[in-house]
Amino acid sequence: MSAEQLKEYLNTAIALAKEVGPAFKDGFWRRGQFSTDSEFAVGDKTGNGADCVTEVDRFIERTIFTRLRGIYPAHRFVGEETAAEGADGDYRVTDDPTWVVDPVDGTNNFVHHFPYTGVSIGLTINREPVVGVVYLPILDELYTAARGQGAFLNGQPLPLIRPPVLTTPGSLAECSVLCEHGSDRSESAMRSRLASFTRLLLDKSHGGGCIQNLRVTGGACPDITLVAKGVAEMYWELGPHAWDFAAAVTILIEAGGAVFDGAGWWGSGVPEEERTLKPLNIWNRKILAIRFIPDLPGRPGSGRETQKRLAREVLELVEDIPYPPDGVH
Ligand code: IPD
Ligand code: CA
Repeated sequence: MSAEQLKEYLNTAIALAKEVGPAFKDGFWRRGQFSTDSEFAVGDKTGNGADCVTEVDRFIERTIFTRLRGIYPAHRFVGEETAAEGADGDYRVTDDPTWVVDPVDGTNNFVHHFPYTGVSIGLTINREPVVGVVYLPILDELYTAARGQGAFLNGQPLPLIRPPVLTTPGSLAECSVLCEHGSDRSESAMRSRLASFTRLLLDKSHGGGCIQNLRVTGGACPDITLVAKGVAEMYWELGPHAWDFAAAVTILIEAGGAVFDGAGWWGSGVPEEERTLKPLNIWNRKILAIRFIPDLPGRPGSGRETQKRLAREVLELVEDIPYPPDGVH
């Protein structure tokens, strides 16, 4: 895939994100075309009330896919709402160029007027994310990236915050960690998640990681872009879908960040010598993302090593939840 072709895909995604921005804002503020209850209407996707969908989600996804199908008829398309409307788990994941779209990431935030919510437009080729646009209209933040071409926030290169402002975290205890509780509120998932959060926070004398803080924004895209920006060290979550992070991971990788499979080792019985970091597979619903870490003076590659060391520290403390992967492979 040529750099020019990737750039063209990126520009298409940017234009689409900007095009749906006004509808997103109208929905967020319940005005214009989404000013009445029937136009806004909130639905419940899983029956527990925690995973909602609005008419705005449907409208934006329809708009984006109609445009994309017109421009790239041979491409494939996976969207959160299309998947929810019957094809959930049934879509085939292939090597073909595939647009992976979440029209509103952080729909709960959207419904509650909490500004960490946005549009996510990603493109995968050979199953790897190569183009990503995340637009957070209420915060006025447009994140853009194409593989090998850098990542930008409103045109400024990422990460925004570089040393010497940020020091290299020596251990997990110096990290700000973004996590999400997600919408799966089954007893086993909640107990497991909360146990993982507890171990991350617990003081060292009790075997915990004693992270500096744990933050929950309510959106996978805002979380990953905060890590790309450099204002949080990492993000860990089990259970989100490919559309929640297909776009944002390209942005993070291009911002010098690292992404790994997020399945934890705590209680897994995996022997220590087999505990190796696995690359992220965006269809596998388990993610650990770490921000850019600079090399120490005279030590090329030390930043990458620190990212991996921190990743291992996290995975030792958190436990896996066996979610089935997205799609048919
Ligand atoms: C959700 C949000 C949430 C995360 C879930 C996602 P949605 O996306 O990103 O923070 O915990 O895993 O599904 O459903 O609001 O688009
Ligand atoms: Ca969504």
